Amino acid sequence: MRCVVANWKMNLRSEEAHAFCEDLLLHIAPEPQAEVGIAPPFTLLSLVSGLVRPKGLHVFGQNGHAEDKGAFTGEISMPQLRDVGCSGVLLGHSERRQFFGETDAALAKKIKAAWQWDLLPLLCIGETLAQRDAGETLAVLGQQLSILSQTGPGPLWVAYEPVWAIGTGRRAEAPQVLEAHGFIRAELIRHGACADYEVPILYGGSVTPESFPELLNIPEVAGGLVGGASLDPHKFAALVKQAG
Ligand code: PGA
Repeated sequence: MRCVVANWKMNLRSEEAHAFCEDLLLHIAPEPQAEVGIAPPFTLLSLVSGLVRPKGLHVFGQNGHAEDKGAFTGEISMPQLRDVGCSGVLLGHSERRQFFGETDAALAKKIKAAWQWDLLPLLCIGETLAQRDAGETLAVLGQQLSILSQTGPGPLWVAYEPVWAIGTGRRAEAPQVLEAHGFIRAELIRHGACADYEVPILYGGSVTPESFPELLNIPEVAGGLVGGASLDPHKFAALVKQAG
């Protein structure tokens, strides 16, 4: 299974999102071989899911709260994501960890909440530059994946996103990606996550149509989580085609 997911982050308004979706649907095959997802900001979820879900694309929330409802001003719950047409949710993106204090303990609860509401979690993991320079990359990835011992197995996609490669134009080198993805697969197996579920491992961090084909040739790279290049429907359509 190959997967390509657009992470729009805090970008686009209704009119732009509408135009993007129409353009994208014109440029991708009616039944793309790859699993395609879009993670728009909360304000655009209804609009985007109305346009792309009928065409078989996934819509992901960019975050979701572990509780179903309650006094959590500014948060959105998993049932609310379902309510507006989401089939999945990004969890643990490095920007959430870095700027909003997302912890592994909270993520374990969020994964379970997502499953309870039939949402596919796309768990993002990755090391900072300081951690890589200190030789801690695999230890960090192992730590971030250790929450799977609390959640148990379930439907899951994982994205390996080295923090230093996100939005920087600096992509990880093939041997670095190979090592990280191989390690992630071994950890997923060790936690029993792959016994009953196919768990694709996406790469994220400055993915473009220029770099994607080489990445897709690396063993255990099942696709991409794409930020900057996903804001251009033609570039995103090209990525979908490359994955197909
Ligand atoms: P980028 O973002 O493609 O702009 O590096 C990727 C991400 O943050 O998921």
